Amino acid sequence: MANGVNVKPAEGKLGILIPGLGAVSTTMIAGVFDILAGNGLPIGSVTQMGRIRLGKRTEKRNPLIKDFVPLTDLKDIVFGAWDIHGENAYEVCKRSGVLEDKHLEPIRAQLEAIKPMDAVFDHSYCHNLEVKHAKSAATKWDLVQMVKDDIKKFKEANHCDRMIMLWCGSTECYTPCEDCHETIEALEKAMKANDPRISPSMIYAYAAITSGVPYANGAPNLTVDTPALIQLALREKVAIMGKDFKTGQTLMKTIVAPGLRARCLGLNGWFSTNILGNRDGEVLDDPGSFKTKEVSKLSVIEHILDGKTFPDLYSNYCHKVRIEYYPPRGDAKEGWDNIDIFGWLGYPMQIKINFLCRDSILAAPVALDIALSMDLAMRCGFYGIQEWLSFFFKSPEVREGLYPQHDLFIQKTKYKNTLRYIMGEDLITHLGLDYYAEEDK
Ligand SMILES: NC(=O)c1ccc[n+]([C@@H]2O[C@H](COP(=O)([O-])OP(=O)(O)OC[C@H]3O[C@@H](n4cnc5c(N)ncnc54)[C@H](O)[C@@H]3O)[C@@H](O)[C@H]2O)c1
Repeated sequence: MANGVNVKPAEGKLGILIPGLGAVSTTMIAGVFDILAGNGLPIGSVTQMGRIRLGKRTEKRNPLIKDFVPLTDLKDIVFGAWDIHGENAYEVCKRSGVLEDKHLEPIRAQLEAIKPMDAVFDHSYCHNLEVKHAKSAATKWDLVQMVKDDIKKFKEANHCDRMIMLWCGSTECYTPCEDCHETIEALEKAMKANDPRISPSMIYAYAAITSGVPYANGAPNLTVDTPALIQLALREKVAIMGKDFKTGQTLMKTIVAPGLRARCLGLNGWFSTNILGNRDGEVLDDPGSFKTKEVSKLSVIEHILDGKTFPDLYSNYCHKVRIEYYPPRGDAKEGWDNIDIFGWLGYPMQIKINFLCRDSILAAPVALDIALSMDLAMRCGFYGIQEWLSFFFKSPEVREGLYPQHDLFIQKTKYKNTLRYIMGEDLITHLGLDYYAEEDK
């Protein structure tokens, strides 16, 4: 058995601070309150319902992850948020139409108590939204100081021992990584000069990291996937991770694509289309925000079905992703995938997937797992990019020079082996020859 990591205990309160009090974040928050009240189960949450095998199969040790690693208990979480609309969490839940009254009315007072702080907002990064509550300051650097002040006040008012910031805000317009994102100095200079290339999410992230608060990114925004903010996280010894919650169609892709590759089946094309009618869909209807999402969604199979490594199977396929805003569907998204594959001697076949999912129902447990795992990372003394959390992200961040792991099953092994490593348990290789060697004796 290895030595493990000296993990600080999860004592006191954990503040989960969320830019973006929308459908996903309020579904997570309400879900946590309901679960604590015994009004539902945390289905879809790996930290709450997942189990982890320890040791050899013959040992039959398979505890719940939450009993194995010292995660923050749900009752010790306090939620805070920023948004531009000014509605409390109950009002957002009612408007979003994700959860029914049976899951809202019993916890109404708790939800009403969560009122967003004024946001850092810039219309040029998000076109399709009406702004009612936003901070104003002379420079972006001043906005950073205002967010830092919010974090400090929230911590004091709620007696938080630790905090984590989780971006659940709308997808920002596509931002390429440029010189102002290359170094900490360049980033700070750009913020002081009100450079338009500094997005609101970068302002929140800079404020979080310099307050010692880890930052996770649930949207495909560039934010902490920039050399400047990675360097800042390393300097401040703070954990960061992104990008974009892995749910719905992309989750399906990273389940199916590894299977095709594992059986050496070829791909001619993969066409994916979605209809969704929630506010996220409305924001993604704007070409700038869609471009950010498209890049995140397209990258997923490129690394799994890799034409350089398998030229005869994957060098020439067509991959298209479409998202259509269709209000009647609300949060109940429908995704279609048409996958043109080929097998033995090149004979063509087709796979059709029609996923009638619920966007926020899938995203809420992922958001919770990320928040709890980022807090665990900090208590383990891990900082910088947390690649072991790739499992939860559509477009996982990695150190420069590494390619991301998109295969859900490799990601799961990486996540669980990291938990075993933290707790000093043997890593599991699935070799298994030892069982038969013992039989020989
Ligand atoms: N639901 C999913 O399955 C899923 C999966 C992956 C990623 N995401 C991403 O998660 C994010 C949230 O999704 P949602 O369905 O809750 O969207 P939503 O539109 O319901 O909520 C987003 C909220 O962010 C607010 N906002 C926008 N800019 C802000 C800013 N600068 N500061 C503070 N608040 C800001 C908006 O006013 C809105 O209330 C989106 O970026 C979405 O693309 C969702």
